[in-house]
Amino acid sequence: MLTKKIDLPVQFYTTKHERSEVTIDNKNVMKINGGIPLSGTVKTQGAKNAALPVMAVCLLLRGETLTLDNVPDLYDIHTMIETLESLGVEAEIRRDSKVSQVIFRTPDELKYEVSEALARKMRASSLVLGPLLANCGRVSLPLPGGCSIGSRPIDLHLKGLKQMGADIDIQNGVVHASVKGRLRGRRIYLDFPSVGATENLMMAASLAQGETIIENVAREPEIDNLAAVLRCVGVTVETEGAGGVRIIGIDKAHSGHERVIPDRIEACTYILAGVMTNGHIKVEDLVPSHIDAILAKLEEAGAKFSVKKSTVEIFPSKKRLHPINVKTMPYPGFPTDSQPQMAAALSVARGVSTIEESVFQARFLYAQELNRMGADIQISRDVAIIRGVDGLQGASVKATDLRAGAALIIAGLAAKGETRVDDMIHVWRGYEAIDQKLRGLGAKVELV
Ligand code: EPZ
Repeated sequence: MLTKKIDLPVQFYTTKHERSEVTIDNKNVMKINGGIPLSGTVKTQGAKNAALPVMAVCLLLRGETLTLDNVPDLYDIHTMIETLESLGVEAEIRRDSKVSQVIFRTPDELKYEVSEALARKMRASSLVLGPLLANCGRVSLPLPGGCSIGSRPIDLHLKGLKQMGADIDIQNGVVHASVKGRLRGRRIYLDFPSVGATENLMMAASLAQGETIIENVAREPEIDNLAAVLRCVGVTVETEGAGGVRIIGIDKAHSGHERVIPDRIEACTYILAGVMTNGHIKVEDLVPSHIDAILAKLEEAGAKFSVKKSTVEIFPSKKRLHPINVKTMPYPGFPTDSQPQMAAALSVARGVSTIEESVFQARFLYAQELNRMGADIQISRDVAIIRGVDGLQGASVKATDLRAGAALIIAGLAAKGETRVDDMIHVWRGYEAIDQKLRGLGAKVELV
């Protein structure tokens, strides 16, 4: 279905061949009539945070193609496709009700400068640094901006690339990286298991001279997905010891075809929507082991659910959730990306819960919006103290980032009356067709 181009803040653009099925037409507010227990089945999309790094693997190729299945239809995905196209890659999107495939054809010669406009749209544009530098010997990338959840530096990415022989010069907010000859394989220790730094350095190491061992790497499932995509283009990637990865650089990567894993954060959002509305839903096409931490905390809080193969089924419960204490940690700890949604669910638990955010500097902006709906959340430094209330009331609220938006939506589904969530643009970055999926679960939601 072709729709006319919409000039929302984030350009929603696929390839020159087609526009994606944008179901919204400059509609940036979701109106929710809450209080309806959800029921039915919802399927999980491909993971945004896996698709973004694995799409950048096409920058390691020369005159070859990379085919990826299960790529979700999201703003951030289209921003990354636009970024790759600006560097000379040709992207073909094949999408219908059953297939969501993207084929990247990489030319022999790539461009190496990313525009300010594209780099500022999405911090994940920093993921072109490693592969471009390894393949072309140079890259210029405007520094990613901060956002509502923190400053988002890339110092660990740059430190690792320097150790591999790159010269890094930052002028007027643009990173200019270059290397004479090839990057050299090294043993690199990450001060923090940064997801993005792990991904950038794994891709840089793929075309470096010799062996690279990266220690204290991030262990999110998205990293394993990246390792699988690197292997499918000919790179040797192995785990090394307790928390490391070993990569043997190759001279030339070949064409490959791999699949994006299910989105564990999207899945948890629907699970928590089922819990909050006391509904009976099935969330399908997920990997239960990827959400162990969430399921463990939901069990502790007394939620009723069952786990089968690739499905989680939520059952209504006569009792409200018990209060619990949550601390976000790098994987396999409780994911920071599910923290706002969990806070929404705990805002109507039977007592006082706490959530400590240890990954990002400030990820509690959503709390004041939930309080407009009758929640009672106080923030003291990096801890949210959530005094459970009997119920929430609908209100007009604003999404401050995509996970905050998701939290406000599930709160609106449970609240009495009408909730309007503004700035849905944030939510479209990470949740494919969330309005349609919620209507499929019996929710009364519409875009206005
Ligand atoms: C990825 O961001 C995800 N984004 C984030 O998801 C997720 O919250 C985060 O990992 C943690 O799981 C994508 O994968 C596209 P980090 P990333 O590097 O790579 C600090 C969402 O909602 N840090 O692990 O940026 C950093 O400031 C998004 O989908 C440095 O100090 O996360 C943060 O406090 C939000 N220096 C912490 O580490 C660096 O060089 C975690 O960052 C890099 C990171």
